Amino acid sequence: MWKLNRRARQATLIVHIVAAGAWIGIDVLVAVLVVVGRFGSDLETRSLAYQALGAFVVWPMLVSGLVCLATGLLLGLGTKWGLIRYWWVLVKLVLNVVLCLLILEALRPGMPGVGRYGRELLTGTADPAVVSDLVFPPAVSLTALAIATVLSVAKPWGRVRRAARPQHERSLT
Ligand code: HEM
Repeated sequence: MWKLNRRARQATLIVHIVAAGAWIGIDVLVAVLVVVGRFGSDLETRSLAYQALGAFVVWPMLVSGLVCLATGLLLGLGTKWGLIRYWWVLVKLVLNVVLCLLILEALRPGMPGVGRYGRELLTGTADPAVVSDLVFPPAVSLTALAIATVLSVAKPWGRVRRAARPQHERSLT
């Protein structure tokens, strides 16, 4: 079986952790922009926060999610952990794929409207319904990424399927 050597494993793990950290950082930034957009002290600041959300958020978030996924796949396939051998890896894989799909399918289509809402705030024609659900993406993503981080460190729950016992042990029971 193909395995990562020590240096390649370390390099991949570093990129993996940096990508995960960047992803969490972008989520925190999104949360801050959403709060400033909703509760900011003046209209210009609120407008800028929504315009920044509309313009800058989706692609950096998706790229860090995909880098995290790609390096996670390499680490799983290239080490003893496997991809579907241990629950903690399998659950992280599902979380990572679901979050990337949510960025593409749920977050991205609404972002041009959020930028437009920011500009319309200054002209008084903005429809608040456009941004009413914006708190959910950073809340869901940060929760899932926090769970993934805890799983990475604690590595709980053991193997997905118990290893088969040797023949002679089975015949004793
Ligand atoms: C969902 C986002 C993810 C986050 C926040 C994350 C975070 C981390 C962190 C912090 C570590 C270092 C743990 C340590 O060294 O003690 C780690 C290691 C690891 N991750 Fe991820 N990860 C994510 C996604 C994935 C995915 C999708 C996979 C596999 C499909 C994966 C597979 C692994 C493996 C196998 C290691 C252990 C590498 C080793 O010890 O050589 N991760 N992850």
